[in-house]
Amino acid sequence: MILIKSVSRMLLASKVAILATILSVEMTVFSQTNGPVPVMQIDASKVTTPVSPMLYGLMTEEINYSYEGGLYGELIRNRAFKANLTNAVFWSPVGGATISLDKSTPLNDALNLSLKLDASSASKDSPEGMANGGYWGIALRPKTTYHVSFYAKAANAFNGPLTVSLTGSNGTMLASAEVSGLNGDWQKFEADLKTKSMAPSKDNVFKITTTAPGTLWLQQVSLFPPTFNHRPNGNRPDLMELLAAMHPKFLRLPGGNYLEGDYINERFDWKKTIGDVSQRPGHRSPWNYWSTDGFGLLEYLEWCEDLHMEPLLAVFAGYALRHDYIKPGPDLEPYVQDALDEIEYVSGDAATTKWGAQRAKDGHPAPFPLHYVEVGNEDEFDRSGSYDGRFKQFFDAIKAKYPELQIIATANVKSSVPDLIDEHYYKSQTEMEGQSHMYDTRERGGKTKVFVGEWATRVGSPTPNMAGALGDAAWMCCMERNSDLVLMHSYAPLFVNVSDLGRGGSMQWRSDLIGYDALTSYGSPSYYAQVMFSSLHGDDVLATDSQNIPTYDWKVPARRRNGVDQPASTHQVPTLFFDATRDRSSGMIYLKVVNRAAGPQRVKIEISGVKSIARKGVATVMQASSPDDTNSLQDPKKIVPVTKKAKGLGKEFTREFPPFSITVLELKAK
Ligand code: AHR
Repeated sequence: MILIKSVSRMLLASKVAILATILSVEMTVFSQTNGPVPVMQIDASKVTTPVSPMLYGLMTEEINYSYEGGLYGELIRNRAFKANLTNAVFWSPVGGATISLDKSTPLNDALNLSLKLDASSASKDSPEGMANGGYWGIALRPKTTYHVSFYAKAANAFNGPLTVSLTGSNGTMLASAEVSGLNGDWQKFEADLKTKSMAPSKDNVFKITTTAPGTLWLQQVSLFPPTFNHRPNGNRPDLMELLAAMHPKFLRLPGGNYLEGDYINERFDWKKTIGDVSQRPGHRSPWNYWSTDGFGLLEYLEWCEDLHMEPLLAVFAGYALRHDYIKPGPDLEPYVQDALDEIEYVSGDAATTKWGAQRAKDGHPAPFPLHYVEVGNEDEFDRSGSYDGRFKQFFDAIKAKYPELQIIATANVKSSVPDLIDEHYYKSQTEMEGQSHMYDTRERGGKTKVFVGEWATRVGSPTPNMAGALGDAAWMCCMERNSDLVLMHSYAPLFVNVSDLGRGGSMQWRSDLIGYDALTSYGSPSYYAQVMFSSLHGDDVLATDSQNIPTYDWKVPARRRNGVDQPASTHQVPTLFFDATRDRSSGMIYLKVVNRAAGPQRVKIEISGVKSIARKGVATVMQASSPDDTNSLQDPKKIVPVTKKAKGLGKEFTREFPPFSITVLELKAK
């Protein structure tokens, strides 16, 4: 069979020019022959390394409407009216009202404008007001309470009241409440809206209307559904449940490019993301939309707490995406201090440290566990060569105050020895499979370990298909097998709102792990591969070997890369991938096998170093009939792992692995 694939790398606009642009034709030639039976050998008497206890984690940032219009529970789009400084975008007038942005009537210094609602012709027969359709809809469910809050003031003559309501797209009233007491001063108003029996739907609208004529100003108009763990200002439950099933050990936060911003004043400036949400100014993210920062540093940390994972804190290191940078030395000092303050906010004692006390004031007295701090993001893109010096300044200051913290560099440095280096891999399936033995031969002995902080097999959009999951699984076998070196890894990006896939819509990056619209969500095949790998493993990696593993030819045409001519080349890429781990207490051996071929493959498994392997075990298998098969909102569980009893196991057995499949065998060893 001959497969010809066009592989084009879509990379972030600002990095396209810098990263090698690869637009190549890869030719993969499969020759499925009746060759010798492949053999996979496991030597259970040899532990090559413990499985890193922190291996599986999450990477996150505000991209693809990940928080606003995603994980963050807020249902109102542009609640603080700062998404566009000319128009009240995503808001529309109701009845004969007019709405406009008013820069002369701010709520405070952070929310320094307001929406002016001119409802001067409102009457009983003709209510006037404003409406918001949410992030491509407002999800409503039956018999559920939604919490409304907003700040408002009115011109003198207004005597109210206001009606806050939820209506269906055809105008059907689904819930409403009255709010009164407006006067000439800013005040906060709150109300609960409870739906009755209804079919869950996202085609709904939130409205604030009045039948009394007047002029009003509004700010921070918010609507929250019930959240995960009932946290105020909390997260969307279905997405949290998908993440919980991944059993993540850490969360790399807050980015990614989102940490850096396009310009230094658009970085994730953490001090502006804490405290009362009405005091957070918000900022433009490098993914080209507004962030209210309602989802700020403490919300990230509480997300960690809810899923029992540790924050892996990335601190802004003085470099922004459009090549703004701060020279190492005195100019950088305030940023270093900011990072030290941030570490203290995360982990400092509430009684004895300034920023620990601030965290307590913000509602969380207990410190969060913190072991890893990353300095910057993808600093190899800093052409000024300043990273070495910038890294050293952060490294020295952080180690001096927090010697126990592990410091992660994002590019090679000579000035100090980082504890870990963050490597990123966005690849095609063939490339991912082609590098699936990369860490087996990586030199050991240095002090610096590896954090693969962003990686993905980028096949399929908006979420990856089975080909993506197969490439991922091959790569995860490599990382798990080498977890003496690769201490942690996290797939990226995590989320995509799939409501509007056109230009300027809800997706800025193709191939994202989890997709959703306002109402429902789904995991891609790559998501389920993550769930399988992170849930089914032991705590020791066992020595493995293999024979007769079939390969396919990967023919890479001559090309120019990073300004260097590269001749045509052919690489042998395996069609089977595997690794084995063992649980210390139960003795259970977890054998992971990936068959990327279009046909079934019979494999002989030989296990030495054990007395016996029970004939019966468990097999968890995810398979597809085509590498293009995928999940979607419409068909969310087309490709999922299925767990069944496995028979015919032993110290030596032969098993057929289905085409396009990922299998985890649980083998009971004595
Ligand atoms: O994951 C998407 C982007 O890829 C990240 O923001 C950035 O770090 C990388 O270039």
